[in-house]
Amino acid sequence: MPSLRSAQIPGIPEREVTDERLFLRRREFLRAASAASLMAAGGIAFGETAEAALTDELPGVLPAPPQFRTDEEQTPWSKATSYNNFYEFGTGKDDPAARAHTLRPRPWSVAVDGEVARPGVVPIEDLLRPHALEERIYRLRCVEAWSMVIPWVGIPLGALLARFEPTSKARYVAFETLVDREQMPGQRRRVLDWPYREGLRMDEAMHPLAILAVGMYGRVLPNQNGAPLRLVVPWKYGFKSIKSIVRIHLQEKQPRTTWNDEAPREYGFYANVNPEVDHPRWSQARERRIGGASGFSALFEQKIATLPFNGYAEQVAGLYAGLDLRRNF
Ligand code: MTE
Repeated sequence: MPSLRSAQIPGIPEREVTDERLFLRRREFLRAASAASLMAAGGIAFGETAEAALTDELPGVLPAPPQFRTDEEQTPWSKATSYNNFYEFGTGKDDPAARAHTLRPRPWSVAVDGEVARPGVVPIEDLLRPHALEERIYRLRCVEAWSMVIPWVGIPLGALLARFEPTSKARYVAFETLVDREQMPGQRRRVLDWPYREGLRMDEAMHPLAILAVGMYGRVLPNQNGAPLRLVVPWKYGFKSIKSIVRIHLQEKQPRTTWNDEAPREYGFYANVNPEVDHPRWSQARERRIGGASGFSALFEQKIATLPFNGYAEQVAGLYAGLDLRRNF
């Protein structure tokens, strides 16, 4: 884990040291660095942590069509539910598995509002109807250079948004996670500026790869994975895939996003997986694929090359034609 002491203040020359603006920027940086270092913490070793007990099966899930699946080895349920990022339950990778039992995913509803002709509230049951749910077998790569292959179950985000009739001013979609210090004890600490927020450009949100997941492995989504519904945007770093969503707001302006607010030099709005753009403190060229190995041998799990757009370039590169992806990272 990169330490604060070894961290550099990017782009600030020595001579500015007494400058008041520098002081403020430095404070902003230190706050960001501590949050960002936390994000990088956790390493890759697996303790014997609690995995989620098997949740209920979801009936009537349509199988993933060929363009939305991969034949790569799937990460086992035990790993996918015991090595998580969900700061509402703590900053350690095993905290969500140990603590997310306090989340109550029923009853639940999601408000969809802003630049839509018909704002409304969707009860979670509406999203769980048999034969409306599809499986999507996606890789998800975390900014911390590990990845998993997970059979998600959900609905295309675009199909849900279309129901609310976005207006011509809807250029972006903002997402927010629940705020509830009882259910999410990690929110009692100001580790992040709650609620956790994410955002997409409208055309990204309408892309058929972007889904709202309500399950995985044919079962109801476990709490630590973002119950009862989360975003999955497989061509972007995992932090875009916001969990336990309560609000979806369509708007004209680019929304604030949690990690961009915390550390703007480290986490951009776009967050497209790009092996050529290093994170300021580590390379993004390779990733550790989390598979079946456990205990000590997990330390030696295979590292593989990271692909542009996490392997989904053919489907999504066109969304960014003409955009400088080094500047818009
Ligand atoms: N959503 C919320 N609300 N809070 C979080 O801390 N972490 C993000 C993302 N969604 C996070 C979140 C990060 S950094 C990653 S890598 C993924 O969730 C991890 O998803 P997983 O635990 O299901 O693998």
